[in-house]
Amino acid sequence: MLEVARALPQWFTREGLEEMAQDFELHDGFVATEGDEIVGFITYETLAVDLAELSWMGVRPEYQRRGIGKRLLQLAQERLIAQRIKILQAATAADSVLYEPYARTRAFYQANGFRDYRVDRGYFPNGDDRLLLQKEL
Ligand SMILES: CC(C)(COP(=O)(O)OP(=O)(O)OC[C@H]1O[C@@H](n2cnc3c(N)ncnc32)[C@H](O)[C@@H]1OP(=O)(O)O)[C@@H](O)C(=O)NCCC(=O)NCCS
Repeated sequence: MLEVARALPQWFTREGLEEMAQDFELHDGFVATEGDEIVGFITYETLAVDLAELSWMGVRPEYQRRGIGKRLLQLAQERLIAQRIKILQAATAADSVLYEPYARTRAFYQANGFRDYRVDRGYFPNGDDRLLLQKEL
């Protein structure tokens, strides 16, 4: 999974990869495989009895736009619904952050039923705004 994330340097910094490695030990998730190779992943954590957050997600660049992300999200949602989770949330950089790769990330969430929920001004250590999105399961 970290290898997939390393193939996505526009999204994941060295610090991001370190945080991710720790989260992978604790969070549930699914991987997409092609033969023996992992080509995509999704992880999530439960925050309250009815609320979960999508922590990390990535699909190798050459496998993107083939529906793998959507399928991984569906699998996570099915598992969370079985656990009686009602709301799934996801966080990313807000559109005040002029960085095109994050516009693609927001487009993925919005195409998959997430609605903008809240913007937290200056949330990230570098001062960037955070967009919180939510989806009812
Ligand atoms: C976000 C990500 C996991 C999506 O994976 P994917 O397998 O490419 O997504 P899908 O093929 O299932 O896309 C589903 C829909 O989302 C939307 N979408 C996905 N990528 C998009 C893009 N680059 N631009 C616009 N819309 C996009 C489209 O509506 C797409 O349907 P379509 O291809 O029929 O038009 C992948 O782009 C990725 O790894 N991004 C970098 C890391 C990241 O942003 N992670 C999330 C935060 S941790």
